[in-house]
Amino acid sequence: MIKNKKILIVGAGGFIGGHLVDRLLKDGNSIISCDIKPKEYWFQDFENSENHYSMDMKDITNCKKVTKGVDYVFNMACNMGGMGFIENNKAECMQSVLINTNLLIACNEDKVSKYFFSSSACAYNKTKQQEVFIDGLKEEDAYPADPEDGYGWEKLFSERMCRHFMEDYGIQVRVARYHNIYGPYGTFDGGREKAPAALCRKVFNAKKNKDTKIEVWGDGKQTRTFLYIDDCIEGTLRLFESDFSDPVNIGSDEQVSINQMIEIIEGISGIQRLEKIYQLDKPKGVRGRSSNNDLVKKVLNWSYNIKLKDGLQKTYDWISSEMQKEGVNISRFTKS
Ligand code: GDD
Repeated sequence: MIKNKKILIVGAGGFIGGHLVDRLLKDGNSIISCDIKPKEYWFQDFENSENHYSMDMKDITNCKKVTKGVDYVFNMACNMGGMGFIENNKAECMQSVLINTNLLIACNEDKVSKYFFSSSACAYNKTKQQEVFIDGLKEEDAYPADPEDGYGWEKLFSERMCRHFMEDYGIQVRVARYHNIYGPYGTFDGGREKAPAALCRKVFNAKKNKDTKIEVWGDGKQTRTFLYIDDCIEGTLRLFESDFSDPVNIGSDEQVSINQMIEIIEGISGIQRLEKIYQLDKPKGVRGRSSNNDLVKKVLNWSYNIKLKDGLQKTYDWISSEMQKEGVNISRFTKS
């Protein structure tokens, strides 16, 4: 367990970053939290952390303000979202390269000993994800390089930047490739939401409005593996403490189609089966994606715990309670 360390978490106002701050505070660390978002848009905001709101790490002077005297840095920051966002904002997504690069430069100057980079399954070669049900993606399947355009290229480039900083300057790096992380305190509306949150919101709305139909992007047959946030945090911290410096999948291996996931959410909400309106012109991403977890089991002796059905139950409960709050300003849950 990491404790009594001074840790900088960049992207702390975001979904995964917020959960990471929570856990590392509970474990007895001193946390500096930064995010480009103003205070009112942070998903979670902890008083016992040193919080820097509206701080843009694409500007290296900001990075240099917060890396001094820090033991560890977790870079959880990037401009991102679900397929609806990353397919239509490639230049924005690629500019996150500045965050990682500037942070590494600042960490090297300030002799930070260990650095974490949150990469993504979008780093994998697209041609290996063209079938609906595929074998899990192994770490070596990122090459030859042909990742998701924009967002995936940024992740792949930044992974390599981490490796070269380790080789050339000796900073220890750890890199996780996250496979569609979901759970409470994340975006569920507004354009950046990923499929689990979007579909929980749509099913909840259908139930509330007594609708019998919902809109689904694509034909619903596309597949993914989704990982609940608590497992994501546990895997991240275990990876960080390991001595493994190459990229590792952090994902589940419970491969489902979008139609199957909707069926689970319908069961959770208690609604009758909805008629699906398939929107074939909406962003779809790859046809099939799933995580191979052989390497993570080998190097961390760890596997995810929370089944999709149980994670979706917690996510649906949280989203529905947010949506039922009268007069609630949901805007902070709609920004990534
Ligand atoms: N977002 C969203 N909203 N997706 C929907 C919806 C909807 O209402 N209905 C169906 N889908 C389908 C999408 O068309 C896509 O085929 C699939 O659900 C998964 O969509 P997302 O969850 O948005 O994205 P992704 O799995 O393709 O990629 C996400 O995960 C990566 C990590 O595995 C993105 O968030 C990436 O940024 C991330 O790196």
